[in-house]
Amino acid sequence: MLIRIPQVLTPTEVAYCRERLEAAAWVDGKATAGEQSAKVKFNLQIPVDSAEAKELGDLVLRALGRNALFATAALPLRVLPPMFNRYDVGMTFQAHVDNAIRAIPGTGQRIRADVSSTLFLTPPEDYDGGELVVQDTYGSHEVKLDAGDMVVYPSTSLHHVNPVTRGSRWASFFWTQSMVKDDAKRQFLYDMDMGIIALRQDLPDDHPGVLAMTSGYHNLLRRWVEI
Ligand code: NI
Repeated sequence: MLIRIPQVLTPTEVAYCRERLEAAAWVDGKATAGEQSAKVKFNLQIPVDSAEAKELGDLVLRALGRNALFATAALPLRVLPPMFNRYDVGMTFQAHVDNAIRAIPGTGQRIRADVSSTLFLTPPEDYDGGELVVQDTYGSHEVKLDAGDMVVYPSTSLHHVNPVTRGSRWASFFWTQSMVKDDAKRQFLYDMDMGIIALRQDLPDDHPGVLAMTSGYHNLLRRWVEI
């Protein structure tokens, strides 16, 4: 399932990211691709060890830390430092599945990629094409969001980025190891959490239904998390 998380970054933060990225040294995106995906990946990235990547990656991580919707959708255990890419006219990333294992740069540690995220940094009216297209059990979904908005989707999904035909599409992207690795379980917990939030808008917190649902959520989480 795809979950849209609006306004992860404020307009000021988006503008700051774009200003810093303007000055960055962009390299071929194949640098961080696996063997299959390197053959279908045609975009640009900033190097993971560059000053811009570190500074802006931290900015994105801080924004994620204050975002309750990301927490409930991804149930994050570890987040790989966010990276930054761009697709100019003609650039594309054809169908692939993201690598299962990713090394955390400079640490020797690895994470399992359970949840993929794309945080849009360009307003949709500034470019044509460039939709992220994700396949799931309910078909194919095209995603093109406002600058500052993010989509999260299971890393198990086959996906691609349509060729950009006008302008340039800039984004941050990263992977999360979730406390709940199974997509279906994570989805169920998300639906349940959203249901509880909706119930609590209409019912008092000591309502037996709210109490039962909240207890059920936490007790399921307790059975399913791996930390
Ligand atoms: Ni991908």
